[in-house]
Amino acid sequence: MAKVLVVGSINMDLVAQVGQYPRLGETLLGSHFATYHGGKGANQAVAAARLGAQVTMLGRVGDDAFGQQLLAGLQAEGVDTRWVLPTANSASGIALITLAGSDNSIIVVPGANALLTPADIVAAEAEFAAADVIVAQLETPLATIEQVAALASKWGKPLLLNPAPAQPLSAELLAQVSLLTPNEFELGVVFERPEAEWQAVLASQPGRILMTAGAAGAWFTTPEGKLQQQTSFPVEAVDTTGAGDTFNGALAAFWAQGLPAAARLACAAAALSVTRAGAQGGMPTLAQLQAFLAVQGGAA
Ligand code: RIB
Repeated sequence: MAKVLVVGSINMDLVAQVGQYPRLGETLLGSHFATYHGGKGANQAVAAARLGAQVTMLGRVGDDAFGQQLLAGLQAEGVDTRWVLPTANSASGIALITLAGSDNSIIVVPGANALLTPADIVAAEAEFAAADVIVAQLETPLATIEQVAALASKWGKPLLLNPAPAQPLSAELLAQVSLLTPNEFELGVVFERPEAEWQAVLASQPGRILMTAGAAGAWFTTPEGKLQQQTSFPVEAVDTTGAGDTFNGALAAFWAQGLPAAARLACAAAALSVTRAGAQGGMPTLAQLQAFLAVQGGAA
């Protein structure tokens, strides 16, 4: 069982379903509202835990009702929450999600996630020593992520960085990342290159970038620089929120299998994740993933 340390955000998702996105200045009536546990960090932690990984979550929640619910939700998934730090005088992170069909747009208000400091990371150094793989995203401060990268390097542990939401990253930070998992848009932002140049960017970092591509699956290069595609698994999408997080959590859970095997399993897990509402709603267990792959003609 892989030991996964996830450092990142924990949000309550406030989701409004609409027929179409409102225009600027327009008021629309939605058809449904629901709250779901979310946050890219927490979603990736839950995805890995459901697939059988031993997961520790390092992050912050506020001292509000959402914070208690989010903490309880992680615990119910079997995630080790000793390093989910309650934060006095702070609201928990929230995400306002508009779901139009199965597509979404998201505004995150970080709340306590913005208060996760480099000192918090240093305090949890023993967890880095104990982990097989470390997972992070960019919904917590960049200085904090830089400390995560420094400790992952110090302990010689692979770092999987999902650069979302995207921002340009320094060459120094990128050098400490074992596998970067942007989508095409995020790749362009991180490397400050036009999206259309994604193949050149992947070629410049052989074996170190896996680009998710929605219905096209995922693209990556081998350490020798050969471009490879992992195709997606067709499903009936209900809600695509959290598909990327499921992909990253699965990659971490199956890290030991390496690419391309882990990418195939991650694509299958992400496909299943969009078949139910909520970021974490459709994330499969290992048994569900195995059953799905058996039907598709391959074993997990
Ligand atoms: O990736 C989906 C997640 O992004 C949502 O759960 C929301 O909380 C935001 O962090």
